Amino acid sequence: MAVPLTDLSEQHRTLLPELRDAFCEVVESGRLILGHYVERFEAQLAAYCGVKHAVGVSSGTDAIKASMLALDLQPGDEVIVSPFTYLHTAESILRAGGTPVFADIRPRTFNLDPDAVEAAITDKTRAIMAVHLYGLPCEMFALLEIAERHGLKVIEDADMAIGATYHGRQAGSLGHMATLSFYPTKTLAAAGDAGAVLTDDDALAQRLRSIRVHGLESGFVVRTPSGAFRMDPLQAALLSVKLPHVDQWVKRRRDLAKRYQQLFEPLAVTTPDSADDIRHAYNLYTLRVRGGGREPLRHHLDAMDIGNRVYYPRPLHLQPAYSHLGYERGTLPHAERACDEVLSIPMFTEMTKAQQDEVVNAVREYFAGD
Ligand SMILES: Cc1ncc(COP(=O)(O)O)c(C=O)c1O
Repeated sequence: MAVPLTDLSEQHRTLLPELRDAFCEVVESGRLILGHYVERFEAQLAAYCGVKHAVGVSSGTDAIKASMLALDLQPGDEVIVSPFTYLHTAESILRAGGTPVFADIRPRTFNLDPDAVEAAITDKTRAIMAVHLYGLPCEMFALLEIAERHGLKVIEDADMAIGATYHGRQAGSLGHMATLSFYPTKTLAAAGDAGAVLTDDDALAQRLRSIRVHGLESGFVVRTPSGAFRMDPLQAALLSVKLPHVDQWVKRRRDLAKRYQQLFEPLAVTTPDSADDIRHAYNLYTLRVRGGGREPLRHHLDAMDIGNRVYYPRPLHLQPAYSHLGYERGTLPHAERACDEVLSIPMFTEMTKAQQDEVVNAVREYFAGD
């Protein structure tokens, strides 16, 4: 039986009558840019995440870009970020006029190592971008303490972490701003592109609302040229139908993750880190395969039609786009090693136990023949 890496078809079959009604309501209303449906979703999302403001935007990429523009970075200003993450992070720092500074990760969590962050701080550092990779929150208390001591902002990239919690608080409610993506592979998935920025700060929220519409302020004045980052009302209406299910979806993912962990215990793979007070949302379920075994395992899973993918095969500091920053191979060893060893395997809310058994059997078979 083929098992996809992720699959929304069952979720959409179940919710289809409500999604169809929501879609028709927006189309019939004629409110096709911002307005009621976006505002309603923003209020719902802010309440769910435990923040004052949610600003709906066009994607996770545009969310992080808007958050960087809101920082008013000046040439030479530095933002510290993990090199083991997607392209949108460092790219948004650069686009907003700043310089990304890469700090290494902790090998067990794949998230920023606070000691490496501290070591990377200079008198030009303005912010720390804390990416909650795969859905596991970063060590936020340590990062916030460092930020406070040095007068820095912390922006959480919670793109993969909706429904995750950190010491009882929702991921996305701890930093000065946070971003979410509703890309269709995310736990809360739009029918296309969508994202949001979260903040408790009234002034920042107002600024973000302006940035999402070219930086326009009242009186047709522009101080921060930005772009068109508006969330579509159609996406907002569909997401309003789905948001009330997120807790239950994350619980299901956590149950699946627990079962994976038990089933993988005898095998030579490292399963994701977890702790009682840092609740992983398992947007992705990512194994670490040491000793050069990742590529052969990938080929074996491909041959058996088991979905798998490497998030991410190349660290950002070794991308040609950032060669001008002067990082060399070997400078951020944990991130570099993770790129060679990680493998994400099927994880989605509606995955059945039979599908999960199929995945585990395929991995088991690979190690039996190894
Ligand atoms: C694979 C991938 N693509 C893209 C993004 C950025 O979000 P979006 O696709 O909504 O712009 C992320 C963020 O986590 C990501 O992991």
